[in-house]
Amino acid sequence: MPDSVNPVTPVTFPPAFLWGAATSAYQIEGAVREDGRTPSIWDTFSHTPGKTAGGDHGDIAVDHYHRYRDDVALMAELGLNAYRFSVSWSRVQPTGRGPAVQRGLDFYRRLVDELLDKGIKPAVTLYHWDLPQELEDAGGWPERDTAMRFAEYAGIVGEALGDRVENWMTLNEPWCSAFLGYGSGVHAPGRTDPVAALRAAHHLNLAHGLGTSALRAVMPPRNAIGVSLNTHVFRALSEDPADQAALKKIDDLGNGVFHGPMLHGAYPDSLFTTTKALTDWSFVVEGDLTLIHQPLDALGINYYTPTLISAGDGDAAGPRADGHGNSQHSPWPGADDVRFHQTPGERTVMGWTIDPTGLHELLMRWTREVPGLPLYITENGCAADDKPDAEGRVHDPERIAYLHGHLRAVRRAIAEGADVRGYYQWSLLDNFEWAYGYEKRFGAVYVDYATQARTPKSSALWYGRLARTGALPP
Ligand code: NOJ
Repeated sequence: MPDSVNPVTPVTFPPAFLWGAATSAYQIEGAVREDGRTPSIWDTFSHTPGKTAGGDHGDIAVDHYHRYRDDVALMAELGLNAYRFSVSWSRVQPTGRGPAVQRGLDFYRRLVDELLDKGIKPAVTLYHWDLPQELEDAGGWPERDTAMRFAEYAGIVGEALGDRVENWMTLNEPWCSAFLGYGSGVHAPGRTDPVAALRAAHHLNLAHGLGTSALRAVMPPRNAIGVSLNTHVFRALSEDPADQAALKKIDDLGNGVFHGPMLHGAYPDSLFTTTKALTDWSFVVEGDLTLIHQPLDALGINYYTPTLISAGDGDAAGPRADGHGNSQHSPWPGADDVRFHQTPGERTVMGWTIDPTGLHELLMRWTREVPGLPLYITENGCAADDKPDAEGRVHDPERIAYLHGHLRAVRRAIAEGADVRGYYQWSLLDNFEWAYGYEKRFGAVYVDYATQARTPKSSALWYGRLARTGALPP
């Protein structure tokens, strides 16, 4: 192994490495009715009985909209040098179209100023799942016009923040938006129509391509544009040809459906075969693949856990690999002959197996598939059963172990040639974990939801030391 990782010496990272944390608008901001903001699909979904644990919603969330200054100060105290956040589309364009609401944009201008003032590099994600409800009412992502609307929105945000924000991501985990939102229905808008899910996937791809061009048109060329994909790590149960065929099928449905068009300009052929009983894909218009396949400056990877599959009856009880709740409806159109299995090993409170080798595998896959494209880990982290002790401190050794293991995997990939430029822990703060509500805590910082008091967990102090020194303890 060419890696210099050995048991006694700390492992150092490149000096310009970004050490950050990530969040998303709906999960932290609250203030859902302030300054002209209108409901997004997540407001509607979370207020629909039975859709989220305990009926939790993001009305107040962790009140970041009012507490952003303190939150930025906390990041600076911890020692972070980067922060990834998302912009709420319905704060900026309440109806999803037309002129921007300046008060909405001003919030992000103030946030960016505060970050720059503290020496923290901002990274903006334009879309982290919160489509303006009005656009869903007009058909949502299964409709082509939503991609056009996204391009308009991207141009507005790019123009407002492009002079001060260098790092941009168009979409976050479009697989979840399409297949959990329109397929299994465990995410907003909660539709369960496999064809709508495939149409949504294509229009998200188109939105990415058009959004990238819209950003380029208004921003200085030095800015870097990318996308954050939850590129799944799929593993087959055996070398059996049937399991290997299932692996190829699910990899194309889970990964190729986005990286094919975005990074290589084509959908994988097998996707059309897998879904031929459902659709002829006539929603792909001539010229779309050229629009989608834009040169990119970065690829964001979100990784939590690998997924084990085999050939077999997809209806057998077992995890569905969506990792986000259970549904009668599969998020995998045309893949009823693929079976999901529990991966062996220790798990987090989400039930997700802890396996840093998956992150190493992904980084090496992208290094091979898109050589020369800088990589960022735009999300990685774990939920744990965090509770303050009698002195009010929160000890989370399992999170330190998780981060440590995954960062060693990152360092090993760098030593083997992966061009990894930064790591954003998910998440800065405990927050609204979608269908799981507030029960699952992913934060570096503990939030007391009754008082909104913030307490850095012991892992945050550990991570902050690492961010300041760049030296990963052995
Ligand atoms: C991925 C999503 O981007 C983020 O919003 C979510 O909270 C984390 N994974 C954890 O599930």
